[in-house]
Amino acid sequence: MRREGIGPGMDVLDLCTASGVLARQAARLGAQVPAVDISRRAMISARLNASLAGLMVSVRRGGLFSAVPERRFDVLVSNPPYVPAPDPNLPRWGARRAWDAGCDGRGLLDRICDSAPGALRSGGLLLLVHSELNGPHRPCADWPGHG
Ligand SMILES: C[S@@+](CC[C@H](N)C(=O)[O-])C[C@H]1O[C@@H](n2cnc3c(N)ncnc32)[C@H](O)[C@@H]1O
Repeated sequence: MRREGIGPGMDVLDLCTASGVLARQAARLGAQVPAVDISRRAMISARLNASLAGLMVSVRRGGLFSAVPERRFDVLVSNPPYVPAPDPNLPRWGARRAWDAGCDGRGLLDRICDSAPGALRSGGLLLLVHSELNGPHRPCADWPGHG
C-alpha cells in the first residue's frame, strides 16, 4: 500500500477486513477507510483494534460491496477467502467462512473482480491477495489492458 502511494485525501475500501489489519495500515497512511466484513465478530474485532490503535476506520457488516452501495474509491484492498474446498457452495456460517472459497477458490475473487471496475474511480487500483491455486493469470482477465 505504501509503494502504491496511498495517502491523505484518498478513499480506500478494505473488503473482508477480519481483524482490520489492512484497513488500519491504510488509515495510518492517511486515507479515509471504510472496511467491510460479513462476520459480526470480525466487525467487532476490527472496530476494537482500530480504536485501540487510535485510528479512524468505519467498519460495516455486510457482503462485499453491498455494505457500501453507490460509493466509489481510489483503491480497493482485499485479502478475501481464496482457499479451494470440496463444497462448491460458499459456507454461510462458521469459521470456514474465513478461508473456504468454493471448488476453485474463486468464489469471492470473481465477485470482487467483476464488481471492482464499478466501485473504482478513474485510474483506481485493486490490491487483491490470492494464490497460485486460483489461477494467478485469471483474476481480472476481462479488465481493459489485462487480457
Ligand atoms: C482471510 S480473512 C481476511 C483477513 C484480513 N483481511 C487480513 O488481511 O488479515 C477473510 C474474511 O472474509 C470475510 N468474508 C467472507 N465472506 C465474505 C463476504 N461475502 N463479504 C464480506 N466479508 C466476507 C470473513 O468473515 C473473514 O473475516
